[in-house]
Parts: sequence; C-alpha cells; structure tokens
Amino acid sequence: MLDQRRLPVEVVYHTYTYYGEVAGAIREMVIRGAPAIGVAAAMGVALGVQRSTARTLDELKAELAAICDTLARTRPTARDLFWALERMKRRFAETAGAAGVAGKGDLAGIREAMVVEAQQIHLEKKTDDEAIGRFGAELMPTDGQVMTQCNTGALATAGIGSALGVIRVAIAQGRKLRVLVPETRPYLQGARLTAWELAEAGIPLTLITDNMAGHFLKTGGVGAVVVGADRIAANGDTANKIGTYQIAVLAHENRVPFYVAAPTSTLDLSIPSGDHIPIEERPPEEVTHFQGVRIAPDVAAANPAFDVTPARFVTAIITERGVSRAPYSESLRRLLESAGPNYPPRFEARKAKLEAR
Ligand code: MRU
Repeated sequence: MLDQRRLPVEVVYHTYTYYGEVAGAIREMVIRGAPAIGVAAAMGVALGVQRSTARTLDELKAELAAICDTLARTRPTARDLFWALERMKRRFAETAGAAGVAGKGDLAGIREAMVVEAQQIHLEKKTDDEAIGRFGAELMPTDGQVMTQCNTGALATAGIGSALGVIRVAIAQGRKLRVLVPETRPYLQGARLTAWELAEAGIPLTLITDNMAGHFLKTGGVGAVVVGADRIAANGDTANKIGTYQIAVLAHENRVPFYVAAPTSTLDLSIPSGDHIPIEERPPEEVTHFQGVRIAPDVAAANPAFDVTPARFVTAIITERGVSRAPYSESLRRLLESAGPNYPPRFEARKAKLEAR
C-alpha cells in the first residue's frame, strides 16, 4: 500500500502479511477513499483466510467471521467496505457449500477462491472507474472550470478514480478543463492528494481553501461540480467528505450542476435516506493540530469526517451502469436491478425495520 498519510512529501509503500495490519492501515488512513477501502478490505479477507491455520471448515468459518468483524470495525461510513465484506462472505459460503457437498471441506480450494474473488473485485473496480469516466465525461463542460472536493482519484479507487476519473476522461476527449481543488480541511485530501495527482497527470488546477468555494461558484465561471461519495441512500441523499454539503447548496444557489460520481458498490438501498448514514467522528486533534503542531488553543473541537448532501441538490449520480436522475428512489433501484447477484437490493427486511421506527 502507498502510504497516503505521507503524500505529497514522501512516496512510501508498505507490505502487509497479516489481515490485522490491513485493518490498521484502513483505520489509520494509510489507504482511504471508499472504493479503495473496499478493495483493501477484500484483500484483507483473502490474506486472513489464506494464512489461517484452521484445520476444519467450522474453524475456518469462525475465523472468517472474526476477520470480517475486525475489518468492519475500521471505518463506518464508506458503504464499499461493507459491500466488499458481504461479497467475500457470500463467495466463502458458496465455495464452502460446494466443498461440503463433496464430503470433507476442501479448505485449500476455499482459500484459493477467496484470493481469486479479491482479485476479481480489484479488477471490477478498475473497469467501474473507466465506465464512470465515460458516462460522466459527457456531462462536463467543453471548456472552463470544474470544482471537486476531497480526493477521488487513483489514490481513492482501484483505477483512474471516480470524480477525478470523469475529469480525466473528459480532458482525454479534448475538453479544456481546469480543476478548482478545495484543500478539504482538516485532513487536506484536496491539497495533499488531489493537487498532487492532478499535477502529476499534467491537469491544470487551482488550489483554493474551503471557505473560497462559495466565492468561486458565484464569480468564477464554474461549469460543474463533480464529487465522489462514501454512501448513497435509496433516495439519493449522499454522504461524502465534510464540506461537500455546503458546496452542493452553493452550487444550487448559483445554478451550477452538481454531480456525484460513484460505483454502485457505494449505493445502500437498505436505508431510505441519508439520516441513517453513520457519520464517522475523527479525533479532534486533526482540527486543533497540523502534523503534530498545535494551531488552536486547548479547546473542544468537533471532527465529523463526512456530511450528507440531500438528493434535491444532486443534478445526477454517475455510476458504472449509467447516469441516474431524480426521482432517485426509482432510478437507483432500476440501476441495481440490472446489476446481478453481487449488487443485490436484498435488504428489504432491514429497510422495513428502519421504516417502522
Ligand atoms: O476520509 P476519506 O479520505 O476516506 O474520504 C474520502 C471521500 O470522502 C471521497 O470523496 C469518497 O470516498 C469518494 S472516493 C472515490
């Protein structure tokens, strides 16, 4: 894993051999960004099962549950993490079922299947980005500025990126875009990561502080905003990096289209609205300190890592399966219905429970 905490100052890679290290890397944000977290979690499961010393199917099942539990307790908001864990568990159950029928559980076969499934998820996430990029590029202006938020590039996914993938493809198609990059306090994913990625790719950008977003949306000739997502509820409400909500409201106020670009693995149709999205609260030191140096007095500080943008501010949601527009409860469901068994809208029971509350 490329250590994103140290970018852009240093390029440092880590190799992990134990699933607990992978969980730690997700929690400590060595790797971040919803799709990348999902792929890392799948790899973590594969690593854990592969290295397990279990001698019976029951032992391996118990170990899988512990591995998934550890990985699930790393970061709560990104849907892709849970999507990947569910998919790995499903693959395990299918393979274990077949092994069970064959007599004694074929543990080597199960271990191999877990590795192949994680690699398959990695590959799919890469092609997802390319499709998102193609669908989204058509919505970008032919010339002018686009604003984004946080980091949604290759660092945050397994391919060219989601929102940044859209911008990359649009530019490759000949659109003349300049990217307005809010620094994204407090963790500075915009300043540290997006600015770095765009500069490396030779894409023109202007770095701004978060509190300049309204000014530029009003005066700066911004043709579109395109952001990623950590979790999208059934009605299209979208959790993304803190600060996204204010950009969406200001885009709406200034009649600038606001697009969300994300793979369908970010969709959570089990929750009716964004009110049900768990928002990660991060350490207050990320607000009161910068790289270990205190920048505020010793006072209380809040640090919600994400906010929820209501669907009414979202012009369209760009996925690898196409572009959804309001009413999202219908368009997103239709999108998943065509997606096959790995993207099941199969949470009816949980949804009914939430609605009954
Ligand atoms: O806390 P982070 O850095 O993991 O948050 C990342 C974001 O909010 C991204 O915008 C989102 O995951 C989409 S990444 C393609």
